[in-house]
Amino acid sequence: MVNIGVSFPPKVTHICCIGAGYVGGPTSAVMAAQCPDIRFTVADTDSARIAAWNSSNLPVYEKGLDDLVKMQRSVNLFFTTDVDSAIRQAEMILIAVNTPTKTRGVGSGKAADLRNVEMCVRRIATVAETDKVVVERSTVPCGTGQMVAGILDEFAKPGVQFHVLSNPEFMSEGSAIANLLHPDRVIIGAHGTSQWAQGLLRAVYEQWVPRDRILTMDLWSAELSKLAANAMLAQRISSINAISAVCEAAGASVKSVADGVGSDRRIGRDFLDASVGFGGSCFHKDVASLVWLSQSLNLPEVAEYWSQVLAMNSFQISRFARTVSQTVVGGLEDKRIACLGFAYKSGTGDSRNTPAAEVCRYLLDEGAHLAVYDPKVPDQHIRDRMEELGCDLSQVSVCASAEEAADGAQAVVVLTAWKQFLALDWEIVYGSMAKPAYVFDGQLMLEPETMRRLGYHFYQIGHPRSP
Ligand SMILES: NC(=O)c1ccc[n+]([C@@H]2O[C@H](COP(=O)([O-])OP(=O)(O)OC[C@H]3O[C@@H](n4cnc5c(N)ncnc54)[C@H](O)[C@@H]3O)[C@@H](O)[C@H]2O)c1
Repeated sequence: MVNIGVSFPPKVTHICCIGAGYVGGPTSAVMAAQCPDIRFTVADTDSARIAAWNSSNLPVYEKGLDDLVKMQRSVNLFFTTDVDSAIRQAEMILIAVNTPTKTRGVGSGKAADLRNVEMCVRRIATVAETDKVVVERSTVPCGTGQMVAGILDEFAKPGVQFHVLSNPEFMSEGSAIANLLHPDRVIIGAHGTSQWAQGLLRAVYEQWVPRDRILTMDLWSAELSKLAANAMLAQRISSINAISAVCEAAGASVKSVADGVGSDRRIGRDFLDASVGFGGSCFHKDVASLVWLSQSLNLPEVAEYWSQVLAMNSFQISRFARTVSQTVVGGLEDKRIACLGFAYKSGTGDSRNTPAAEVCRYLLDEGAHLAVYDPKVPDQHIRDRMEELGCDLSQVSVCASAEEAADGAQAVVVLTAWKQFLALDWEIVYGSMAKPAYVFDGQLMLEPETMRRLGYHFYQIGHPRSP
Protein backbone atom coordinates (compact mmCIF):
# COMPACT_ATOMS: atom_id res chain seq x y z
CA MET A 1 0.00 0.00 0.00
CA VAL A 2 1.42 3.39 -1.03
CA ASN A 3 1.54 6.07 1.66
CA ILE A 4 0.32 9.06 -0.28
CA GLY A 5 2.40 12.14 0.29
CA VAL A 6 4.43 10.82 3.26
CA SER A 7 7.69 11.96 1.71
CA PHE A 8 6.43 15.52 1.45
CA PRO A 9 7.06 18.27 3.96
CA PRO A 10 3.82 19.69 5.41
CA LYS A 11 4.49 22.89 3.51
CA VAL A 12 6.04 23.50 0.11
CA THR A 13 9.43 25.20 0.39
CA HIS A 14 10.69 25.16 -3.18
CA ILE A 15 8.67 25.56 -6.38
CA CYS A 16 10.11 25.34 -9.87
CA CYS A 17 8.30 26.86 -12.83
CA ILE A 18 9.30 25.52 -16.24
CA GLY A 19 8.67 28.19 -18.88
CA ALA A 20 9.79 31.80 -18.38
CA GLY A 21 7.23 33.42 -20.68
CA TYR A 22 4.26 35.75 -20.26
CA VAL A 23 2.76 33.35 -17.70
CA GLY A 24 5.79 31.76 -16.02
CA GLY A 25 7.63 35.03 -15.33
CA PRO A 26 4.83 37.23 -13.93
CA THR A 27 3.11 34.42 -11.98
CA SER A 28 6.36 33.35 -10.33
CA ALA A 29 7.20 36.98 -9.46
CA VAL A 30 3.80 37.52 -7.82
CA MET A 31 3.93 34.19 -5.99
CA ALA A 32 7.46 34.94 -4.75
CA ALA A 33 6.33 38.31 -3.41
CA GLN A 34 3.31 36.77 -1.66
CA CYS A 35 5.08 33.68 -0.31
CA PRO A 36 8.40 34.85 1.19
CA ASP A 37 9.07 31.40 2.71
CA ILE A 38 9.02 29.65 -0.64
CA ARG A 39 11.94 29.71 -3.08
CA PHE A 40 10.86 30.05 -6.72
CA THR A 41 13.11 28.98 -9.56
CA VAL A 42 11.95 29.82 -13.08
CA ALA A 43 13.70 27.56 -15.59
CA ASP A 44 13.70 27.83 -19.36
CA THR A 45 15.79 26.37 -22.17
CA ASP A 46 15.83 29.76 -23.94
CA SER A 47 19.05 31.31 -22.64
CA ALA A 48 18.35 34.75 -24.17
CA ARG A 49 15.03 34.89 -22.32
CA ILE A 50 16.61 33.88 -19.03
CA ALA A 51 19.39 36.45 -19.52
CA ALA A 52 16.71 39.09 -20.08
CA TRP A 53 14.88 38.08 -16.87
CA ASN A 54 18.20 38.47 -15.06
CA SER A 55 18.76 41.93 -16.57
CA SER A 56 17.07 45.32 -16.18
CA ASN A 57 15.39 44.84 -19.57
CA LEU A 58 12.74 42.17 -18.85
CA PRO A 59 11.43 40.15 -21.81
CA VAL A 60 7.80 40.85 -20.85
CA TYR A 61 6.17 44.24 -20.36
CA GLU A 62 3.47 44.40 -17.69
CA LYS A 63 2.64 47.31 -15.43
CA GLY A 64 4.31 46.72 -12.02
CA LEU A 65 6.36 43.74 -13.16
CA ASP A 66 9.75 45.50 -13.20
CA ASP A 67 9.40 46.57 -9.57
CA LEU A 68 8.26 43.13 -8.43
CA VAL A 69 11.14 41.35 -10.14
CA LYS A 70 13.64 43.89 -8.84
CA MET A 71 12.31 43.32 -5.31
CA GLN A 72 12.29 39.50 -5.32
CA ARG A 73 15.13 38.53 -7.68
CA SER A 74 18.00 36.85 -5.81
CA VAL A 75 15.85 36.95 -2.65
CA ASN A 76 13.43 34.08 -3.31
CA LEU A 77 13.08 34.36 -7.10
CA PHE A 78 15.70 32.93 -9.46
CA PHE A 79 15.87 32.55 -13.23
CA THR A 80 17.99 29.77 -14.71
CA THR A 81 18.62 27.64 -17.77
CA ASP A 82 19.58 24.72 -15.51
CA VAL A 83 16.20 23.02 -15.79
CA ASP A 84 17.41 19.70 -14.34
CA SER A 85 18.73 21.18 -11.08
CA ALA A 86 15.57 23.25 -10.71
CA ILE A 87 13.46 20.07 -11.08
CA ARG A 88 15.59 18.13 -8.58
CA GLN A 89 15.44 20.81 -5.90
CA ALA A 90 11.71 21.56 -6.04
CA GLU A 91 8.88 19.67 -4.36
CA MET A 92 6.37 21.19 -6.74
CA ILE A 93 6.88 21.82 -10.47
CA LEU A 94 4.68 24.18 -12.45
CA ILE A 95 4.58 23.58 -16.19
CA ALA A 96 4.02 26.93 -17.97
CA VAL A 97 5.40 26.21 -21.42
CA ASN A 98 3.75 27.34 -24.65
CA THR A 99 1.08 25.12 -26.22
CA PRO A 100 0.60 26.57 -29.71
CA THR A 101 -1.77 25.30 -32.38
CA LYS A 102 -0.48 22.35 -34.41
CA THR A 103 0.73 23.40 -37.83
CA ARG A 104 0.85 19.98 -39.46
CA GLY A 105 -0.51 16.47 -39.27
CA VAL A 106 -3.79 15.39 -37.71
CA GLY A 107 -5.63 18.38 -36.22
CA SER A 108 -3.42 20.91 -38.03
CA GLY A 109 -4.72 24.46 -37.46
CA LYS A 110 -6.92 23.39 -34.55
CA ALA A 111 -5.43 20.91 -32.08
CA ALA A 112 -2.99 22.07 -29.40
CA ASP A 113 0.61 21.07 -30.03
CA LEU A 114 1.60 19.42 -26.75
CA ARG A 115 5.22 18.72 -27.68
CA ASN A 116 6.63 21.21 -25.16
CA VAL A 117 4.49 19.81 -22.36
CA GLU A 118 5.52 16.28 -23.29
CA MET A 119 9.23 17.22 -23.32
CA CYS A 120 8.96 18.86 -19.91
CA VAL A 121 7.15 15.89 -18.43
CA ARG A 122 9.71 13.42 -19.81
CA ARG A 123 12.46 15.55 -18.34
CA ILE A 124 10.77 15.74 -14.94
CA ALA A 125 10.25 11.96 -14.94
CA THR A 126 13.83 11.10 -15.85
CA VAL A 127 15.53 13.70 -13.64
CA ALA A 128 13.44 13.59 -10.44
CA GLU A 129 15.00 11.64 -7.58
CA THR A 130 12.26 12.37 -5.04
CA ASP A 131 8.44 12.58 -5.18
CA LYS A 132 7.03 15.66 -6.93
CA VAL A 133 3.73 17.42 -7.41
CA VAL A 134 3.49 18.27 -11.11
CA VAL A 135 1.11 21.13 -11.92
CA GLU A 136 -0.26 21.90 -15.39
CA ARG A 137 -0.32 25.71 -15.71
CA SER A 138 -0.23 25.73 -19.50
CA THR A 139 -3.58 25.70 -21.25
CA VAL A 140 -4.16 22.14 -22.42
CA PRO A 141 -7.10 20.19 -23.82
CA CYS A 142 -9.30 18.21 -21.48
CA GLY A 143 -7.66 14.84 -20.84
CA THR A 144 -4.02 15.97 -21.03
CA GLY A 145 -3.52 15.07 -17.37
CA GLN A 146 -3.83 11.43 -18.37
CA MET A 147 -0.96 11.80 -20.86
CA VAL A 148 1.12 13.60 -18.22
CA ALA A 149 0.49 10.93 -15.58
CA GLY A 150 1.20 8.17 -18.12
CA ILE A 151 4.60 9.59 -19.09
CA LEU A 152 5.56 10.20 -15.47
CA ASP A 153 4.69 6.59 -14.54
CA GLU A 154 6.54 5.20 -17.53
CA PHE A 155 9.84 7.02 -16.98
CA ALA A 156 9.92 7.47 -13.19
CA LYS A 157 12.95 6.28 -11.25
CA PRO A 158 12.10 3.34 -8.93
CA GLY A 159 10.20 4.46 -5.85
CA VAL A 160 9.58 8.02 -7.08
CA GLN A 161 5.93 9.07 -7.14
CA PHE A 162 4.27 11.93 -8.99
CA HIS A 163 0.98 13.68 -8.31
CA VAL A 164 -0.60 15.60 -11.15
CA LEU A 165 -2.69 18.75 -10.66
CA SER A 166 -4.31 21.15 -13.10
CA ASN A 167 -4.07 24.80 -12.09
CA PRO A 168 -4.89 26.81 -15.23
CA GLU A 169 -3.87 30.46 -15.38
CA PHE A 170 -6.61 33.02 -16.04
CA MET A 171 -4.61 36.24 -15.97
CA SER A 172 -5.05 38.67 -18.79
CA GLU A 173 -2.08 40.33 -20.47
CA GLY A 174 -2.06 44.07 -19.88
CA SER A 175 -3.39 43.63 -16.34
CA ALA A 176 -1.46 40.50 -15.39
CA ILE A 177 -0.07 41.69 -12.07
CA ALA A 178 -3.42 43.02 -10.81
CA ASN A 179 -5.14 39.80 -11.95
CA LEU A 180 -2.56 37.62 -10.23
CA LEU A 181 -2.74 39.61 -6.99
CA HIS A 182 -6.56 39.65 -6.95
CA PRO A 183 -7.75 36.69 -9.01
CA ASP A 184 -11.50 36.21 -9.57
CA ARG A 185 -10.81 32.56 -8.82
CA VAL A 186 -8.05 29.99 -8.61
CA ILE A 187 -8.90 26.51 -9.88
CA ILE A 188 -7.07 23.42 -8.68
CA GLY A 189 -8.06 20.12 -10.29
CA ALA A 190 -6.95 16.65 -9.25
CA HIS A 191 -7.87 13.02 -9.70
CA GLY A 192 -7.98 10.14 -7.24
CA THR A 193 -4.78 9.66 -5.30
CA SER A 194 -3.48 13.14 -6.19
CA GLN A 195 -6.32 14.87 -4.38
CA TRP A 196 -4.26 15.31 -1.21
CA ALA A 197 -1.83 17.44 -3.25
CA GLN A 198 -4.64 19.95 -3.93
CA GLY A 199 -4.31 20.94 -0.27
CA LEU A 200 -0.60 21.59 -0.69
CA LEU A 201 -1.15 23.98 -3.59
CA ARG A 202 -4.22 25.50 -1.94
CA ALA A 203 -2.06 26.40 1.07
CA VAL A 204 0.32 28.28 -1.25
CA TYR A 205 -2.54 30.36 -2.70
CA GLU A 206 -4.17 30.92 0.66
CA GLN A 207 -1.25 33.16 1.55
CA TRP A 208 -2.93 35.92 -0.48
CA VAL A 209 -6.13 34.64 -2.14
CA PRO A 210 -9.38 34.52 -0.09
CA ARG A 211 -10.38 30.89 0.57
CA ASP A 212 -13.75 31.20 -1.14
CA ARG A 213 -12.01 32.12 -4.39
CA ILE A 214 -10.08 28.85 -4.51
CA LEU A 215 -12.13 26.20 -6.28
CA THR A 216 -11.14 22.56 -6.17
CA MET A 217 -12.51 20.11 -8.72
CA ASP A 218 -11.60 17.07 -10.78
CA LEU A 219 -8.74 17.30 -13.27
CA TRP A 220 -10.81 17.20 -16.46
CA SER A 221 -13.17 19.94 -15.25
CA ALA A 222 -10.20 22.16 -14.34
CA GLU A 223 -8.62 21.68 -17.76
CA LEU A 224 -11.92 22.31 -19.55
CA SER A 225 -12.75 25.38 -17.41
CA LYS A 226 -9.82 27.24 -18.93
CA LEU A 227 -10.71 26.41 -22.55
CA ALA A 228 -14.37 27.22 -21.91
CA ALA A 229 -13.56 30.55 -20.22
CA ASN A 230 -11.42 31.72 -23.13
CA ALA A 231 -13.97 30.49 -25.66
CA MET A 232 -16.74 32.44 -23.93
CA LEU A 233 -14.64 35.62 -23.70
CA ALA A 234 -13.78 35.34 -27.40
CA GLN A 235 -17.45 34.65 -28.16
CA ARG A 236 -18.49 37.89 -26.44
CA ILE A 237 -16.03 39.86 -28.55
CA SER A 238 -17.25 38.19 -31.73
CA SER A 239 -20.86 38.81 -30.68
CA ILE A 240 -20.40 42.55 -30.18
CA ASN A 241 -18.32 42.73 -33.36
CA ALA A 242 -21.14 41.07 -35.28
CA ILE A 243 -23.47 43.73 -33.84
CA SER A 244 -20.97 46.44 -34.90
CA ALA A 245 -21.39 45.37 -38.52
CA VAL A 246 -25.18 45.62 -38.14
CA CYS A 247 -24.77 49.08 -36.56
CA GLU A 248 -22.73 50.35 -39.49
CA ALA A 249 -25.24 49.02 -42.00
CA ALA A 250 -28.25 50.31 -40.04
CA GLY A 251 -26.80 53.65 -38.90
CA ALA A 252 -26.77 52.78 -35.18
CA SER A 253 -23.98 53.23 -32.61
CA VAL A 254 -22.39 50.09 -31.20
CA LYS A 255 -21.25 51.99 -28.10
CA SER A 256 -24.86 52.91 -27.30
CA VAL A 257 -26.05 49.39 -28.06
CA ALA A 258 -23.32 47.93 -25.80
CA ASP A 259 -24.41 50.27 -22.98
CA GLY A 260 -28.04 49.36 -23.55
CA VAL A 261 -27.33 45.66 -23.58
CA GLY A 262 -24.62 45.62 -20.92
CA SER A 263 -26.68 47.45 -18.30
CA ASP A 264 -28.71 44.25 -17.97
CA ARG A 265 -27.05 42.64 -14.94
CA ARG A 266 -27.47 39.18 -16.46
CA ILE A 267 -25.25 40.29 -19.34
CA GLY A 268 -22.89 42.93 -17.89
CA ARG A 269 -20.88 45.61 -19.72
CA ASP A 270 -17.39 44.02 -19.56
CA PHE A 271 -15.97 42.68 -22.80
CA LEU A 272 -18.63 44.39 -24.89
CA ASP A 273 -16.29 46.83 -26.62
CA ALA A 274 -16.34 46.44 -30.37
CA SER A 275 -12.91 46.49 -32.01
CA VAL A 276 -10.95 45.36 -35.01
CA GLY A 277 -10.97 41.85 -33.49
CA PHE A 278 -9.27 39.71 -30.87
CA GLY A 279 -5.70 38.48 -31.04
CA GLY A 280 -2.97 37.31 -28.71
CA SER A 281 -1.53 33.92 -28.08
CA CYS A 282 -4.60 32.44 -26.40
CA PHE A 283 -8.07 33.21 -27.74
CA HIS A 284 -7.65 31.87 -31.25
CA LYS A 285 -5.66 28.82 -30.21
CA ASP A 286 -7.96 27.94 -27.32
CA VAL A 287 -11.18 28.27 -29.34
CA ALA A 288 -9.55 26.19 -32.10
CA SER A 289 -8.54 23.62 -29.48
CA LEU A 290 -12.14 23.45 -28.24
CA VAL A 291 -13.33 23.00 -31.83
CA TRP A 292 -10.89 20.11 -32.23
CA LEU A 293 -11.83 18.59 -28.88
CA SER A 294 -15.52 18.71 -29.84
CA GLN A 295 -14.80 17.10 -33.21
CA SER A 296 -12.72 14.41 -31.50
CA LEU A 297 -15.61 13.71 -29.14
CA ASN A 298 -17.91 13.30 -32.17
CA LEU A 299 -19.83 16.50 -31.49
CA PRO A 300 -19.76 18.19 -34.93
CA GLU A 301 -22.56 20.67 -34.13
CA VAL A 302 -20.67 21.89 -31.05
CA ALA A 303 -17.46 22.19 -33.08
CA GLU A 304 -19.32 24.20 -35.74
CA TYR A 305 -20.82 26.52 -33.11
CA TRP A 306 -17.39 27.47 -31.70
CA SER A 307 -15.74 27.68 -35.09
CA GLN A 308 -18.13 30.56 -35.92
CA VAL A 309 -16.47 32.62 -33.16
CA LEU A 310 -13.22 32.40 -35.14
CA ALA A 311 -14.94 33.01 -38.46
CA MET A 312 -16.55 36.21 -37.13
CA ASN A 313 -13.18 37.45 -35.89
CA SER A 314 -11.57 36.95 -39.32
CA PHE A 315 -14.56 38.68 -40.90
CA GLN A 316 -14.20 41.70 -38.60
CA ILE A 317 -10.47 42.10 -39.32
CA SER A 318 -10.90 41.93 -43.09
CA ARG A 319 -14.07 44.06 -42.99
CA PHE A 320 -12.14 46.84 -41.24
CA ALA A 321 -9.17 46.62 -43.63
CA ARG A 322 -11.52 46.60 -46.62
CA THR A 323 -13.25 49.73 -45.31
CA VAL A 324 -9.89 51.54 -45.26
CA SER A 325 -9.03 50.59 -48.83
CA GLN A 326 -12.53 51.31 -50.17
CA THR A 327 -12.94 54.64 -48.38
CA VAL A 328 -9.68 56.43 -49.21
CA VAL A 329 -10.36 58.26 -52.43
CA GLY A 330 -8.51 56.66 -55.36
CA GLY A 331 -7.50 53.58 -53.32
CA LEU A 332 -4.26 52.89 -51.46
CA GLU A 333 -1.72 52.39 -54.27
CA ASP A 334 1.49 54.27 -53.31
CA LYS A 335 -0.20 56.08 -50.42
CA ARG A 336 1.40 56.39 -47.00
CA ILE A 337 -0.83 54.91 -44.30
CA ALA A 338 0.06 55.35 -40.62
CA CYS A 339 -0.75 52.38 -38.41
CA LEU A 340 -0.95 53.40 -34.77
CA GLY A 341 -0.54 50.44 -32.46
CA PHE A 342 0.60 46.94 -33.24
CA ALA A 343 0.24 45.06 -29.91
CA TYR A 344 -2.83 42.84 -29.87
CA LYS A 345 -4.16 45.02 -27.05
CA SER A 346 -2.99 47.96 -24.98
CA GLY A 347 -0.93 47.44 -21.85
CA THR A 348 1.24 44.72 -23.36
CA GLY A 349 4.14 44.55 -25.79
CA ASP A 350 2.81 41.21 -27.07
CA SER A 351 2.10 41.09 -30.79
CA ARG A 352 1.44 37.37 -31.16
CA ASN A 353 -1.50 36.80 -33.48
CA THR A 354 -2.28 40.51 -33.48
CA PRO A 355 -5.12 41.68 -35.77
CA ALA A 356 -2.84 44.65 -36.62
CA ALA A 357 -0.55 42.37 -38.64
CA GLU A 358 -3.51 41.05 -40.66
CA VAL A 359 -4.76 44.57 -41.35
CA CYS A 360 -1.21 45.60 -42.40
CA ARG A 361 -0.99 42.66 -44.79
CA TYR A 362 -4.27 43.65 -46.41
CA LEU A 363 -3.21 47.30 -46.79
CA LEU A 364 0.16 46.27 -48.25
CA ASP A 365 -1.61 44.02 -50.76
CA GLU A 366 -3.56 47.11 -51.84
CA GLY A 367 -0.26 48.88 -52.60
CA ALA A 368 0.04 51.09 -49.50
CA HIS A 369 3.31 52.13 -47.85
CA LEU A 370 2.98 51.59 -44.13
CA ALA A 371 4.41 53.71 -41.31
CA VAL A 372 3.89 51.71 -38.12
CA TYR A 373 4.26 52.90 -34.54
CA ASP A 374 3.70 51.05 -31.27
CA PRO A 375 4.96 52.28 -27.88
CA LYS A 376 5.78 48.81 -26.53
CA VAL A 377 6.24 46.28 -29.33
CA PRO A 378 9.93 46.02 -30.29
CA ASP A 379 10.64 47.03 -33.92
CA GLN A 380 11.95 43.60 -34.78
CA HIS A 381 8.76 41.92 -33.55
CA ILE A 382 6.72 44.19 -35.85
CA ARG A 383 8.83 43.11 -38.80
CA ASP A 384 8.82 39.44 -37.70
CA ARG A 385 5.01 39.29 -37.45
CA MET A 386 4.59 40.81 -40.90
CA GLU A 387 7.21 38.52 -42.36
CA GLU A 388 5.33 35.52 -40.92
CA LEU A 389 2.33 36.67 -42.98
CA GLY A 390 4.43 36.99 -46.14
CA CYS A 391 4.36 40.83 -46.25
CA ASP A 392 6.73 42.86 -48.42
CA LEU A 393 8.80 44.60 -45.75
CA SER A 394 10.35 47.04 -48.24
CA GLN A 395 7.05 48.97 -48.03
CA VAL A 396 7.06 49.11 -44.22
CA SER A 397 8.81 51.61 -42.00
CA VAL A 398 8.70 51.38 -38.22
CA CYS A 399 8.53 54.83 -36.63
CA ALA A 400 9.66 56.24 -33.29
CA SER A 401 6.46 58.20 -32.61
CA ALA A 402 2.84 58.47 -33.70
CA GLU A 403 3.54 61.95 -35.09
CA GLU A 404 6.38 60.64 -37.24
CA ALA A 405 4.15 57.85 -38.58
CA ALA A 406 1.34 60.28 -39.46
CA ASP A 407 3.62 62.83 -41.11
CA GLY A 408 2.65 62.94 -44.80
CA ALA A 409 0.19 60.05 -44.43
CA GLN A 410 -3.12 59.97 -46.27
CA ALA A 411 -4.76 58.02 -43.48
CA VAL A 412 -4.18 57.08 -39.85
CA VAL A 413 -5.45 53.66 -38.81
CA VAL A 414 -5.79 53.11 -35.04
CA LEU A 415 -5.17 49.44 -34.31
CA THR A 416 -4.38 49.29 -30.58
CA ALA A 417 -6.14 51.27 -27.84
CA TRP A 418 -3.04 52.91 -26.34
CA LYS A 419 -4.14 55.86 -24.16
CA GLN A 420 -1.35 58.02 -25.59
CA PHE A 421 -3.22 58.12 -28.92
CA LEU A 422 -6.03 59.96 -27.12
CA ALA A 423 -3.54 62.56 -25.92
CA LEU A 424 -2.12 63.23 -29.41
CA ASP A 425 -2.54 66.78 -30.68
CA TRP A 426 -4.81 65.74 -33.52
CA GLU A 427 -4.90 69.30 -34.86
CA ILE A 428 -1.14 69.31 -35.43
CA VAL A 429 -1.33 65.76 -36.83
CA TYR A 430 -4.01 66.96 -39.29
CA GLY A 431 -1.71 69.74 -40.44
CA SER A 432 1.09 67.26 -41.18
CA MET A 433 -1.02 64.82 -43.21
CA ALA A 434 -1.80 64.62 -46.95
CA LYS A 435 -5.33 65.81 -47.80
CA PRO A 436 -8.01 64.69 -47.67
CA ALA A 437 -6.93 63.26 -44.30
CA TYR A 438 -8.65 60.13 -43.02
CA VAL A 439 -8.72 58.49 -39.60
CA PHE A 440 -10.00 54.92 -39.20
CA ASP A 441 -10.58 54.16 -35.53
CA GLY A 442 -10.55 50.40 -35.02
CA GLN A 443 -10.64 50.72 -31.23
CA LEU A 444 -13.48 53.21 -30.58
CA MET A 445 -11.06 55.59 -28.88
CA LEU A 446 -11.54 58.95 -30.51
CA GLU A 447 -14.39 61.43 -30.31
CA PRO A 448 -16.11 61.55 -33.75
CA GLU A 449 -17.43 65.13 -33.45
CA THR A 450 -14.01 66.52 -32.51
CA MET A 451 -12.22 64.63 -35.26
CA ARG A 452 -14.70 65.79 -37.90
CA ARG A 453 -14.51 69.36 -36.65
CA LEU A 454 -10.74 69.24 -37.15
CA GLY A 455 -11.33 68.34 -40.79
CA TYR A 456 -10.81 64.58 -40.79
CA HIS A 457 -12.85 62.10 -42.74
CA PHE A 458 -13.54 59.93 -39.75
CA TYR A 459 -14.62 56.28 -39.62
CA GLN A 460 -15.17 54.36 -36.42
CA ILE A 461 -16.05 50.70 -36.15
CA GLY A 462 -19.73 50.18 -35.39
CA HIS A 463 -20.81 53.78 -36.10
CA PRO A 464 -22.39 55.68 -38.95
CA ARG A 465 -19.87 56.91 -41.50
CA SER A 466 -18.49 60.40 -41.92
CA PRO A 467 -21.05 62.51 -43.80
N1 LIG B 1 -0.05 34.71 -22.32
C1 LIG B 1 -1.18 34.70 -21.63
O1 LIG B 1 -1.82 35.71 -21.44
C2 LIG B 1 -1.69 33.41 -21.04
C3 LIG B 1 -2.70 33.47 -20.07
C4 LIG B 1 -3.17 32.29 -19.51
C5 LIG B 1 -2.65 31.07 -19.93
N2 LIG B 1 -1.68 31.04 -20.90
C6 LIG B 1 -1.14 29.73 -21.30
O2 LIG B 1 0.10 29.55 -20.61
C7 LIG B 1 1.03 28.83 -21.43
C8 LIG B 1 2.29 29.65 -21.61
O3 LIG B 1 1.98 30.84 -22.29
P1 LIG B 1 3.02 32.03 -22.46
O4 LIG B 1 2.29 33.14 -23.09
O5 LIG B 1 3.73 32.24 -21.17
O6 LIG B 1 4.06 31.36 -23.50
P2 LIG B 1 5.49 31.91 -23.90
O7 LIG B 1 5.74 31.45 -25.28
O8 LIG B 1 5.60 33.37 -23.59
O9 LIG B 1 6.50 31.18 -22.91
C9 LIG B 1 6.71 29.80 -22.91
C10 LIG B 1 8.14 29.53 -22.49
O10 LIG B 1 8.30 28.11 -22.35
C11 LIG B 1 9.61 27.77 -22.76
N3 LIG B 1 9.69 26.35 -23.06
C12 LIG B 1 9.04 25.66 -24.03
N4 LIG B 1 9.36 24.35 -23.97
C13 LIG B 1 10.23 24.21 -22.95
C14 LIG B 1 10.89 23.09 -22.37
N5 LIG B 1 10.70 21.86 -22.85
N6 LIG B 1 11.70 23.30 -21.32
C15 LIG B 1 11.89 24.55 -20.81
N7 LIG B 1 11.27 25.65 -21.30
C16 LIG B 1 10.44 25.49 -22.36
C17 LIG B 1 9.86 28.65 -23.97
O11 LIG B 1 11.24 28.81 -24.22
C18 LIG B 1 9.18 29.96 -23.53
O12 LIG B 1 10.10 30.86 -22.94
C19 LIG B 1 0.29 28.53 -22.73
O13 LIG B 1 -0.28 27.26 -22.65
C20 LIG B 1 -0.79 29.61 -22.76
O14 LIG B 1 -1.91 29.18 -23.51
C21 LIG B 1 -1.18 32.17 -21.45
